[in-house]
Amino acid sequence: MKTHDTIIILDYGSQYSQLIARRVREAHVYSRLVSWSTPAGEVLALNPKGFILSGGPNSVYDTGAPTLPDYVLDSGLPVLGICYGMQLLARRFGGQVGYSQHREYGPATLQVDKTDDPLFSGWQVAGVEPHQSQVWMSHGDKVEALPSGFRPLAHSDNSPFAAAADVERGYYAVQFHPEVVHTTQGARLLSNFVHHICGCGADWTPVNFIEEQVELIRAQVGNGRVVLGLSGGVDSAVAAALIHRAIGEQLTCIFVDHGLLRQGEAAQVVETFQREQGMNLIAINAVEEYLEMLAGVTDPEQKRRLIGEKFVRIFEREANKLGQIDFLAQGTIYPDVIESAGKGKKDAHVIKTHHNVGGLPDDMEFELVEPLRELFKDEVRTVGTALGLPDSIIWRQPFPGPGLAIRCLGEITWERLERLRQADAIFVEELRHAEMLRLGTQQSFAVLLPVKSVGVMGDVRTYQEVIALRAVTTEDFMTADWARLPYELLAKVSRRIVNEVAGVNRVVLDITSKPPGTIEWE
Ligand code: XMP
Repeated sequence: MKTHDTIIILDYGSQYSQLIARRVREAHVYSRLVSWSTPAGEVLALNPKGFILSGGPNSVYDTGAPTLPDYVLDSGLPVLGICYGMQLLARRFGGQVGYSQHREYGPATLQVDKTDDPLFSGWQVAGVEPHQSQVWMSHGDKVEALPSGFRPLAHSDNSPFAAAADVERGYYAVQFHPEVVHTTQGARLLSNFVHHICGCGADWTPVNFIEEQVELIRAQVGNGRVVLGLSGGVDSAVAAALIHRAIGEQLTCIFVDHGLLRQGEAAQVVETFQREQGMNLIAINAVEEYLEMLAGVTDPEQKRRLIGEKFVRIFEREANKLGQIDFLAQGTIYPDVIESAGKGKKDAHVIKTHHNVGGLPDDMEFELVEPLRELFKDEVRTVGTALGLPDSIIWRQPFPGPGLAIRCLGEITWERLERLRQADAIFVEELRHAEMLRLGTQQSFAVLLPVKSVGVMGDVRTYQEVIALRAVTTEDFMTADWARLPYELLAKVSRRIVNEVAGVNRVVLDITSKPPGTIEWE
């Protein structure tokens, strides 16, 4: 089987660590983010071709500060230290790290002094002062004297050793953060390190990934049978398509229509997977069951809990009807893996309970098939497209597991859900027309409020419900800003909703960022 070159990123707790892994993968090299304290055997088993040490919040002088494990240096492989990683390298080899109470945070101009180093290959940009470029600094301590063997490669106003290397041994170090977009040549620097210094091939591509996973899935599953819960979201859709490519008829997908989906969604799932992809798909209409269960429930956490539990029960019931099932497949992706690995951390703060439809029933005894465990969201999309899934599924905005239940504030009835669905469809349709659905906003939807307001239509006084429009721009959904949608677009959406949706006489716009707000209203 074809294997790929691997770069290991040791995580020292920087908020940017995941970004390092993404940039390396964008250079078509497989990378894995592991805690700095992961046992040597586990890391070396991955057969890396180089190491990157991330930044981190500590000072190397803190008692109990994370350290540089011996196996990294003993391996003889190239190492790139970023920020804290640089300080670890400097300290280990006898350099001097200056302690500072003040952080340098923000852009700086980097002047490359050793222009022929492979780290800066292709660095020069037309029209810009030769070998200068903007980098992003975020550090307190910094290296003040290099260890022997290290030579400076670049400086900035505040950092005489903004980049340095012991070229003989392949140890590189940068004070700035090449992984963030504010470092204009950062992606190139990381690509140079993994290709020119570690010697990795550009072999991490969707096609290679698919071929490799197809073989792995076949090897794992053999003649067994696999069941997968389709939610309509991107991750479970791509997982299904990939597993289907590997084992065809041995895969059965279960799709539970809980009545909380957006307009046309349930039909689209069936159309795409059953008709177009030719999969075994069991579509369960559980709308009545869910509505009965949710009658009179207004507390958001209770809605989530009930919906999550119900899904598990229906899924189990349907899976049991299938007879002998050996494996449960899931669309778990890399950020889920990293997030749950960090669950034990004391700073892990639970803001909402996120029950995912399609989530793992805790007490089910199946072996798991999770072919997307290694992928970031953008990679999942690329793989999905390569597998022939339509854009309407691949570029779908994130949709919460409990669906419209947490956007239908107050009591959930079929009538109110329909009202919300219609308003939401109008909003999305107008955003699509304006070509703002993907770039203008990363998540946008309507919310039905549990209040009524007075209005007048024709000569008649009305007393009806209120729709709030929510549209945000965000990179990672952890923070978000409200999208500055054009007034004309908003005017049209508002006019259409009030005219076309029975029972709604007022439209308001949510202009709260996250934090302090959240994206969803419940
Ligand atoms: P918040 O509202 O916390 O949302 O800013 C961040 C992202 O998570 C989604 N979200 C959920 N997804 N189950 C899910 O599967 C949930 O209960 C849930 N609540 C929020 C939200 O849509 C946004 O993308």
